[in-house]
Amino acid sequence: MATKKRKFKTAADIKVGVIGYGGAFNMGRGHLNEMKKAGMTPVAVAEIDETRLAEARKDFPGIETYNSVAKMLSTSNVDIITIITPHNTHAKLALQCLKAGKSVVCEKPFAITTAECDAMIAEAKKKNLLLTTYHNRHWDGCVMQGLKTIKSGAIGDIVRIEAHMGKWGKPRDWWRSSKTISGGIMYDWGVHILEYSLQILNDDIKEVTGFAKYGFWGPKITWKKDANEDEGYAVVRFAKGEWLTIALTAIDSNPKRGMIEITGTKGSYIMDHNTWEVIKSNDDGSVTISKGNNPPSEWWRYYQNVADHLVKGTKLVITAEWARRPIHILDLADKSAKAGKALAAKYK
Ligand SMILES: NC(=O)c1ccc[n+]([C@@H]2O[C@H](COP(=O)([O-])OP(=O)(O)OC[C@H]3O[C@@H](n4cnc5c(N)ncnc54)[C@H](O)[C@@H]3O)[C@@H](O)[C@H]2O)c1
Repeated sequence: MATKKRKFKTAADIKVGVIGYGGAFNMGRGHLNEMKKAGMTPVAVAEIDETRLAEARKDFPGIETYNSVAKMLSTSNVDIITIITPHNTHAKLALQCLKAGKSVVCEKPFAITTAECDAMIAEAKKKNLLLTTYHNRHWDGCVMQGLKTIKSGAIGDIVRIEAHMGKWGKPRDWWRSSKTISGGIMYDWGVHILEYSLQILNDDIKEVTGFAKYGFWGPKITWKKDANEDEGYAVVRFAKGEWLTIALTAIDSNPKRGMIEITGTKGSYIMDHNTWEVIKSNDDGSVTISKGNNPPSEWWRYYQNVADHLVKGTKLVITAEWARRPIHILDLADKSAKAGKALAAKYK
């Protein structure tokens, strides 16, 4: 996708801001510090919670603060805006920023539906602006190690990937447990483990079959009928015949070990946050297991790549089209679960 023409002489010339300075994980502060590390200049924060704006002023003395996005867009000369708000606001805010001529970094998930992704991509193209998603975990140690081992041929050809996360337990009473606001149980960590999986199995998506169980936890938490699925599950078929399953659960009393298991023709790879394991069957029926620890993550590479892209024209790693892939799977899974049948993937 075309991104803003090479316009910045140095990274310091890129003025950055955020929408959302939330307290759950202090993500606004984290983003501005990471952008600063990549050489860019934090200038503005928009946040509807005044107490969080006060935090931003403490963290970044002198930074412009706005209690509405519209005010930020009409007043600030910020170049790139990172959107760090609840999931159902991403598309609307991104379109508002792009229409005002600002480049956009959107926290994951890029959006909730494919249609939203396509509208954002079209607007960015029309305005020739940068649009990308903060897939910092593209550089997690676990997936960097997994890619290295699998590309070396250690498990042969990939047959299938099983990605899974969660276990039996009552969901927290926060916006992440609302289907309307979050998009569903698969839209938080599910997007990360799908993005890992799509790095490993980088093939065209053919079709998605989704499954969803509702109603066990919903009545017991704030959101009632608008609560997330108790479990979301999807099967993805790829062009060359491989398949992927993803399960995000709050009702599994026997959760599988590891986070992603990749089955190959010569062995299995078990990827967890901190550790990896390769299991191989031998001709004599014995099994050889090798294991180790993953290297540290390199999240700094995300904003470094964005800055290098805008200053030196370096290829953007997390394009909007790349970020659309996991969302397209999750959107199809949701619609497929409702329709009770597999749905074909659509590329532009
Ligand atoms: N990449 C990662 O590793 C990672 C980690 C944590 C969170 N996230 C993502 O970050 C995003 C935010 O999550 P969080 O945990 O920081 O949530 P949060 O609830 O702590 O913060 C969200 C903030 O957005 C503000 N907000 C909502 N609507 C707004 C609007 N229209 N204008 C301005 N501010 C608005 C809220 O007042 C709140 O302070 C989500 O997309 C989440 O998935 C990503």
